[in-house]
Amino acid sequence: MEIDLRERWLIDSVEVPTRLVLAPMAGVSVQAFRRQGRRFGAGLVCSEMVSCAGIEHRNEKTLGYLRVASDEHPLAIQIFGSNPETMAEAGRMVEAAGADIVDINFGCPVRKVTKTGAGATLLEDPALACRIVSSVAEAVGVPVSVKMRRGLRNGSRDCLDVGPRLVEAGASVLTLHPRSAQQMYTGSADHALTAELVSLVDVPVIASGDITSRARAQAVLATTGAAAVMVGRGAQGNPWALREIVDGDAAEPSREEVVAELVLFIRETVRELGERRASGFLKKFYGWYLGRGRFPRPFKQELVVLDSTEEVERRLIAAAPGALPLLEQLEAELPTGDEITLALPISAFGGG
Ligand SMILES: Cc1cc2nc3c(=O)[nH]c(=O)nc-3n(C[C@H](O)[C@H](O)[C@H](O)COP(=O)(O)O)c2cc1C
Repeated sequence: MEIDLRERWLIDSVEVPTRLVLAPMAGVSVQAFRRQGRRFGAGLVCSEMVSCAGIEHRNEKTLGYLRVASDEHPLAIQIFGSNPETMAEAGRMVEAAGADIVDINFGCPVRKVTKTGAGATLLEDPALACRIVSSVAEAVGVPVSVKMRRGLRNGSRDCLDVGPRLVEAGASVLTLHPRSAQQMYTGSADHALTAELVSLVDVPVIASGDITSRARAQAVLATTGAAAVMVGRGAQGNPWALREIVDGDAAEPSREEVVAELVLFIRETVRELGERRASGFLKKFYGWYLGRGRFPRPFKQELVVLDSTEEVERRLIAAAPGALPLLEQLEAELPTGDEITLALPISAFGGG
């Protein structure tokens, strides 16, 4: 039987309109990515992980991650750190910034984060992990979620011990990426563990890992009992994958559609990060959008050496002039609602 991914579900009182969640990805999940994800069917979008120390020290770049646009909701902002009090303070600021959910990262396998005692390392210190969750949950009025790996080492089943304790400590939803931290992104996500976790807790579980098609999403939902699937790498440069997963619409985008979405993404990212940061940040997206046999390979090489995003735009539109009316239509349809920001000069982030 087909599962309806357009079914609404609840995280406490937060209504999530579809059973697809767009994954938090450092260096990827900018506001433009999240807003695009919502347009293509994601019911919940997440910021990349934000350092609670950066929030505490009011680091300008960190605070830039806390900008929330009116058409992103529901949105989870993810924080990481290992000190319960600092995490609680970060949770309060994230809530004040407009997040509907505060997500806590117990999954990051990267050494820069784990060596500070944060991320996936906390799966081996369940008492501290629970203190972090309960301090954040007490500090905020919105639901708290936790995203975790299966454990630190290959074959670990720590998530099944820690998960239920985190729920007791106050987590309203758990996301499981069932690879070990040691695995990084190698091998495959073992969703048999997701099914076990679902059977152990009475809160919704989100299944993350290797979901790239509707068939895979259906299979994981059916075999695990998860409330939703999360999509990460499959959505990089490919928002059409989200539409395929949610609606079964498998139509490949035309070149014009690809260029229109990419140019919109470039413009939005430049508005968010400023030209200097955006032009470096965007380079990886060119390959992601233009690959998959959509454009000849040398075209991407041409784009990455150009000096400004304006030149990239010109080159893209020259390659598919029919993209212009599509782009105008997309821009006309974008909501222009107020952004909720902390009391910070917008100019710090390169313009509003
Ligand atoms: C480039 C990249 C950055 C990521 N950054 C984060 C992050 O900031 N926080 C987090 O919880 N997970 C992060 N992840 C993990 C993803 O959210 C997701 O769990 C993982 O990629 C598996 O899903 P996928 O197979 O759909 O990509 C990241 C993954 C990638 C590829």
